[in-house]
Amino acid sequence: MTLRYIVKHPDPVLRKVAKPVTRITPHIHKLLDDMAETMAAANGVGLAAPQVGILKRVIVVDDGEGIIELINPEIVEMSGEQDGPEGCLSIPGVTGDVKRAQYVRVKGLNRDGEPIEVAGEGLLSRALQHEIDHLNGVLFIDRAHTLYRTDAPQGSEKPVKARAVRADVVQQAFTKQGSVIQGSVNQGSLPLESTEKASQVKSHDLP
Ligand code: NI
Repeated sequence: MTLRYIVKHPDPVLRKVAKPVTRITPHIHKLLDDMAETMAAANGVGLAAPQVGILKRVIVVDDGEGIIELINPEIVEMSGEQDGPEGCLSIPGVTGDVKRAQYVRVKGLNRDGEPIEVAGEGLLSRALQHEIDHLNGVLFIDRAHTLYRTDAPQGSEKPVKARAVRADVVQQAFTKQGSVIQGSVNQGSLPLESTEKASQVKSHDLP
């Protein structure tokens, strides 16, 4: 197995729609193995192939209950709602609160090309939705209703205001100075794909 480089936002590969896998080859097995290793090394909860520069519909998820590999995953059922923190290995230094379905059922193929279904709620559901988004060029910063910076040194950070609707808005917000950061939140929660802790950023006063 080989650790692969994790592509970082705003690399355009993260905005492309990944192609379905049409044939299970040794390359796909190697990709799955490498993705699992790369995710584990980065303490991630999930990883999608575009994050290692491969535009194929392949994801791995590990919510602590073992690795799930899915080829050509497709959400076939979703219900309920949850609102909580997410991060992304491709967007270091940023987390955000994102509303997601509480429950999803996903169908896809396993590494032998056999049809499988995975159903989950809570973190597993969130991780599946996040990773499948990656296959469609969608990032959590597109969906977050509040964003947080995690890379500023404690006590000395430049205040940041952000309202995440689009990546370019996020980029602008993070390069402007704003009003006061309101303490910290989400301590003790693990944002998705990340174990960083978050400082809250006000979300309601962008011009
Ligand atoms: Ni991600």
